[in-house]
Amino acid sequence: MTATPPATPAQAPAQAPAQANDLEALDRAHVFHPSTHLAQFARGEAPSRIVTGGEGVHIVDRDGRRSLDGFAGLYCVNVGYGRTEIAEAIAAQAHRLAYYHAYVGHSSEPVITLSERIVRKAGMGMQRVYYGLSGSDANETNIKLVWYVNNVLRRPEKKKIISRQRGYHGSGVMTGSLTGLDAFHKAFDLPKAPILHTTCPHYYRGGAEGETEAEFARRCADDLEKLILDEGPETVAAFIGEPVMGTGGIITPPAGYWDEIQKVLARYDVLLIADEVVTAFGRTGAYFGSHLYGIRPDLITIAKGLTSAYLPLSGVIVGEKVWQVLEQGTDDLGPIGHGWTYSAHPLCAAAANANLDIVDGEDLAGNARDVGAHFLAGLHAAFDDHPLVGEVRGVGLLAALEFVADKATKQRFDPVGKVGPAVAAACLEEGLIARAMPHGDILGFAPPLVLTRDQADQVVAMTRRAVDKVHRAL
Ligand SMILES: Cc1ncc(COP(=O)(O)O)c(C=O)c1O
Repeated sequence: MTATPPATPAQAPAQAPAQANDLEALDRAHVFHPSTHLAQFARGEAPSRIVTGGEGVHIVDRDGRRSLDGFAGLYCVNVGYGRTEIAEAIAAQAHRLAYYHAYVGHSSEPVITLSERIVRKAGMGMQRVYYGLSGSDANETNIKLVWYVNNVLRRPEKKKIISRQRGYHGSGVMTGSLTGLDAFHKAFDLPKAPILHTTCPHYYRGGAEGETEAEFARRCADDLEKLILDEGPETVAAFIGEPVMGTGGIITPPAGYWDEIQKVLARYDVLLIADEVVTAFGRTGAYFGSHLYGIRPDLITIAKGLTSAYLPLSGVIVGEKVWQVLEQGTDDLGPIGHGWTYSAHPLCAAAANANLDIVDGEDLAGNARDVGAHFLAGLHAAFDDHPLVGEVRGVGLLAALEFVADKATKQRFDPVGKVGPAVAAACLEEGLIARAMPHGDILGFAPPLVLTRDQADQVVAMTRRAVDKVHRAL
């Protein structure tokens, strides 16, 4: 007697691929995509795009559509696509030594040269680099280090970490909790304690009638101080912030903001974590966002622009104050119990070195400053008087347009979150990738840092046509 074989998922799939050899159908049937409406995607109701190549600031898909990538992937391909120097450096390292771990003092040459370079470029009293593979895992490391430090210093109650509303710090368990955007919290039961959120420093939305930017910045710092005092300074360990807010809507800080915030942190012995996952390595026009705004962090998170995403690599740059306590901690407690198999991966370090050779050799921070200023001026010229646009903002090669239903009153659209995606879709029809930011109706730009002035003008022109098209349709 032959037994009936059990039904396998392949025999009875919820959504059978129409044609087994069709890549899109296979993708819809087998790939779990991040930040995607899973049901709509599986049913074929949400768009699919299979990217096959990239050159400079453009990507190409398998249907032959070419787009100017105005968001550098996810603000990461800073040196542009198709840089063979990086591919060759990765291959050469793979031939020499593809992998060895970094536990108990093991190392490799690319990791050592990269670390010396990062610490030197950062300055600001930075001492060591701990490596991970994503911005999220680097921030998870930051949280652990902050807790460890306060345990070593025998103040175990000093553990709370203050983030900001609309801050983005990842989507791990604790880092998702740091992230101050509702979309990343829905139905996940992320731990609330010991994370707190303070005022988002968005002057356009948060500034009161007649309040100057500097006054608003002081009010943000007052709000932070009040939160620390309400909670008890002896319970607050650290503050984390992006020098320029990214995923929350590309929000440049109001004048004087970081000075005011740092005064408060110093008063209550609260560590400062600068999350530079987006801003490090030139994006704001300075090498680090902290350099631009006079931030003196204790810990810096880096990722994205470190390798331009040719391979995944992130890091925590540890400053003097924290480093001393970590050394003291291991004298007291033994080797630090933190590490991942892929920490300090030699291939990723080789990619980072080759990438930073390009960033430095082509002065991409300088290009971001120069072309960024030109781009922002172009956006202001095209949109300051546009009825759909409430605010044009940016710094370096980071910029955003915020759409409003009423320019005079800054009234939002009802419902929120339709116009931004509609403009992004219209941009795509023009051949431009710009990102509908997940909060509000905001279109974000973070193009590769190799963007030329000419290409910046193209981005402005394509965006203007797209915004006009959506405006006409409203
Ligand atoms: C400022 C910031 N921090 C952390 C992260 C998380 O990085 P990842 O997606 O690599 O985990 C991001 C991602 O966009 C980010 O923008």
